[in-house]
Amino acid sequence: MKHKGLLTVALVLLTIGVIGTIGMYIFAPSLSTTETTSVQTPQGTSGTYTSIGQQIFLTGIGSNGARIPRTAASGNGRMGSAGCAYCHGANGQGGTFRMMGSSIDVPDITYEALADEGFTEETIAQAIRDGIDEQGEQLSNVMPRWQMSEADVTYTIIYLKELSVQ
Ligand code: HEC
Repeated sequence: MKHKGLLTVALVLLTIGVIGTIGMYIFAPSLSTTETTSVQTPQGTSGTYTSIGQQIFLTGIGSNGARIPRTAASGNGRMGSAGCAYCHGANGQGGTFRMMGSSIDVPDITYEALADEGFTEETIAQAIRDGIDEQGEQLSNVMPRWQMSEADVTYTIIYLKELSVQ
């Protein structure tokens, strides 16, 4: 009797294990797509891009070859892991894009557009690093706060100027 009880328990556990394993195969792929913060790895940090500014803009990788630390955009790791282009577009002109079911307006950050709005190089740096706009207002947390070096901020702004003339 005692042994039979144990056998039943063992069988139940085994069944749970099998179901669990099958479940993992079914659900793991969909889970992992949201989980892996697939950093858009640059193909080599130099040579592939016309400038460090472009590299930062497209990939979020700084001049030291490492991913620039930043707050995850609205807690969404995947969004937070890409470069500026991921949200502001490859031409920097922004637009509306959908994120987790809601649409988000992303501003034009070409230098010209920012200057028209009243931004200076200093306040652009502040927007990038601290998420504070030219009026001293907090930007929404969709915009990551980038812990960039002084030099990388400068490279980025130079690139925003290049985008203006394209
Ligand atoms: C995950 C999306 C996302 C990424 C990545 C991103 N931004 Fe933004 N950014 C935004 C959104 C959304 C706003 C508007 C926030 C608001 O209006 O409150 C914004 C605002 C800005 C502003 C202020 C513009 C204005 O008109 O007020 C600047 C400057 C800026 N971003 C620069 C950058 C730079 C440079 C990078 C890359 C280093 C970058 N952003 C990466 C989403 C993003």
